[in-house]
Amino acid sequence: MTLGGWLRRAERLYAKHGVALGQTAALAHDEALYLILRTLGLPLDSGPSVLGRKLSAPESAEIGAVFDRRLAGRVPAAYITREAWLGGMRFYVDERVLIPRSYFVEIIPEQAGPWLPDPARVTRIADVCTGSGCLAILLARHFKKARLDAIDLSADALEVAKVNVRRHKLSGRVRLLRGDLLDPAPGGRYDMILCNPPYEPTAHVDALPEEFRREPRLALDGGPDGLALVRRLVGQSARLLKPRGVLMIEVGGGRDAFDREFGHLEPHWFQTMDGSDCVCLIQAARLAPRHARARS
Ligand SMILES: C[S@@+](CC[C@H](N)C(=O)[O-])C[C@H]1O[C@@H](n2cnc3c(N)ncnc32)[C@H](O)[C@@H]1O
Repeated sequence: MTLGGWLRRAERLYAKHGVALGQTAALAHDEALYLILRTLGLPLDSGPSVLGRKLSAPESAEIGAVFDRRLAGRVPAAYITREAWLGGMRFYVDERVLIPRSYFVEIIPEQAGPWLPDPARVTRIADVCTGSGCLAILLARHFKKARLDAIDLSADALEVAKVNVRRHKLSGRVRLLRGDLLDPAPGGRYDMILCNPPYEPTAHVDALPEEFRREPRLALDGGPDGLALVRRLVGQSARLLKPRGVLMIEVGGGRDAFDREFGHLEPHWFQTMDGSDCVCLIQAARLAPRHARARS
């Protein structure tokens, strides 16, 4: 069989098994091709001619075993290959962390830049709920003078983040801290506090497709209405932001509820390519007590 033949077979199998997509790729074709290329150790940017490559019997068997894990076993592709890509960067991942797919990748740096007093002078950033460390690393790459505090409650997740921070040679600028939201922040104020928290309402988590339930529950469950952590983070951020600093949060499907509760803080919602517009920015000045009083 050729590689292209296996790809067509895999696409049929994806449809038959009705697997969920969205962690590694949006289309079965793309995820299947990715898994075949990775299994054979071929470059991910191989041209169309690779489809005609003949497979040996052992290669074909190896690919079959990978699709068995993915389709019958419902193991997410990224946990099979132990990698995920975000913003053109490669991250180590395993079952201890959420598979990176944050909408922040569309927003950092271009869309966020104009909201910062001077991106070149951003010196302190907190990435709360850092998971694999992917967003802290993206931020460190963009804000070259910044030092980052990457915080997570999960010691397991921080082990994964440590691997990624080392691989991207950022140990000198990204500090990993364990604790609840901003509790471990060591003092001083941030130019930016960014957070992709768990935001699925608890009742939705058990109804997620099996692939998604393979991810740590701690990374998904945002409490009864999905905003439990968001609510606490908004409360903590005022005292930890510089006067012209910004808080940026991804809220998933919680935008309407967020606006009802925090509309008085005048959040700016960023546009995302799929129209979900679920990342907002709040300026530190809006978080000041005067605004909080205006609400009550
Ligand atoms: C949605 S994942 C985001 C991971 C990563 N930032 C990303 O975008 O891929 C949420 C992360 O929040 C962490 N977390 C959950 N509750 C937390 C809390 N109270 N304080 C800090 N981190 C928490 C989880 O362990 C998980 O790694």
